[in-house]
Amino acid sequence: MRSISLALAVVLTVVAVGARAAEPSGDASRGAALFRTCAACHSLVPDRNMTGPSLAGIWGRKAGSLESFERYSSALRASGVVWDAKALDAWLKSPAGFIPDSHMPFAGIPNAQQRADLIAYLKGASAGKAPAVAGNRNGMGGMMGGTEPHFTDLKKVGANQQVRAIRICRDSYFVTTADGKTTAFWEPNLRFKTDSSAVGPRPGAPVLLGAGMIGDRAFVVFAAPDEISGFIKHRCDAPK
Ligand code: HEC
Repeated sequence: MRSISLALAVVLTVVAVGARAAEPSGDASRGAALFRTCAACHSLVPDRNMTGPSLAGIWGRKAGSLESFERYSSALRASGVVWDAKALDAWLKSPAGFIPDSHMPFAGIPNAQQRADLIAYLKGASAGKAPAVAGNRNGMGGMMGGTEPHFTDLKKVGANQQVRAIRICRDSYFVTTADGKTTAFWEPNLRFKTDSSAVGPRPGAPVLLGAGMIGDRAFVVFAAPDEISGFIKHRCDAPK
């Protein structure tokens, strides 16, 4: 019992100290750990855009101005904001509160110390000085299976991922790969994507990517959208 109340007292003290600091100064290494949440959508590699724009060089950049990012909201583009400590603090506290109608799918960080830590990290990272985020080799966080982008080169996958044929019979897809195996998927569990980037598949050579933990779901990634329907054959008998 005593150790529990002692632990509680420690927690309360830490909370009180945190709350007292009105303008906390940031700790970039703590910020690096916090950045993992952001890394699900943002990389720090120049022009490597994901769900969100690359944050390389964010310090002093005009909001919504990275040319290689196509999906900014008009609100962010038109905001006139330039990213410095003050603007980042307001944005990270409440993105939609700071720039209404912007659409960063992130609720905000209520804790001022955590925001300061992140901003310290972003400032260093922006100048190329920050430590890499541990366990974040590709500039992406560990999001749940399925939605995360890949940065492996899809031109270099093994035979078990090179798709040779896809057929659909009623509610089932049958995907045959270059190793001769055919895997069946329930229709809603197989999705089709395109990747036109430098690491996308070769034209006409789609790639099977597993998604999810159980192995019953997957993606087939094509080089371009017009390949998709031509590739999928309606037939119920397995080709000889
Ligand atoms: C679920 C995805 C997602 C997460 C998580 C996320 N962001 Fe974003 N972020 C976006 C998107 C999308 C935009 C573009 C918003 C718009 O155009 O309105 C954006 C925009 C930004 C911008 C403005 C960039 C520019 O070029 O003007 C900054 C700065 C930013 N995010 C920082 C962060 C930080 C720091 C975190 C972590 C605390 C974070 N974001 C978490 C998706 C995300």
